[in-house]
Amino acid sequence: MLDVAVLVSGRGSNLQALIDACAADDFPARIVAVISNNPGSYGLERAKLAGIPTAVVNHRDYEDRESFDNAIDEELKKFKAKFICLAGFMRILEARFVNRWRDRILNIHPSLLPSFKGLHTQERALESGVRFTGCTVHIVRPEMDEGPIILQAAVAVDPEDDADSLAEKVLIQEHLIYPEALKLIALGRVSISGNRSIIEKAEYPKEALISPALTD
Ligand code: GRF
Repeated sequence: MLDVAVLVSGRGSNLQALIDACAADDFPARIVAVISNNPGSYGLERAKLAGIPTAVVNHRDYEDRESFDNAIDEELKKFKAKFICLAGFMRILEARFVNRWRDRILNIHPSLLPSFKGLHTQERALESGVRFTGCTVHIVRPEMDEGPIILQAAVAVDPEDDADSLAEKVLIQEHLIYPEALKLIALGRVSISGNRSIIEKAEYPKEALISPALTD
């Protein structure tokens, strides 16, 4: 059983998808804590409703990034977390922290990386005229929105889409691939080779239009 801490800043719908997945008896991971930098994050409520311990590490209370990251680390130790899922966590973690947790931090980003790193992804996807966009679950590296890709799901961009409708369609896929990626990792089916991940015997949720696995 993989003990996971989820870091959130906002509404926490991806956290909810992870909570729901972990509720299944045969899911190989469990959430030991939900930590937020934002005391008003609805993710904290979701955790409480699910009976999961929470902690607030408010970035405003810390002088610099390093002391903020260290405070997060303290909480992770306290809850004996072995793995971290970022789920709409809006703070940049410093290289020292990321390297300390190398290959043990997962993130979800609402684009088909490496396209559209950063914020306002759907607006930029629309402006660029791409026909497909989607979401990516990847291992976190110190550079923002970089790192080995575990799973991606694509959605078609319709002519009538605006940023909100696109975000909604992408979010549906996010909720499918995030738990699936965590499961593959917790089962030990993912190995990292340079900047790529290799997945053994991947079984994808059929609802999602997902890229083929890189297999040996
Ligand atoms: C999601 O779109 C996720 O991909 C991005 O931030 C958003 C968080 O949404 N990193 P939620 O808080 O999980 O609902």
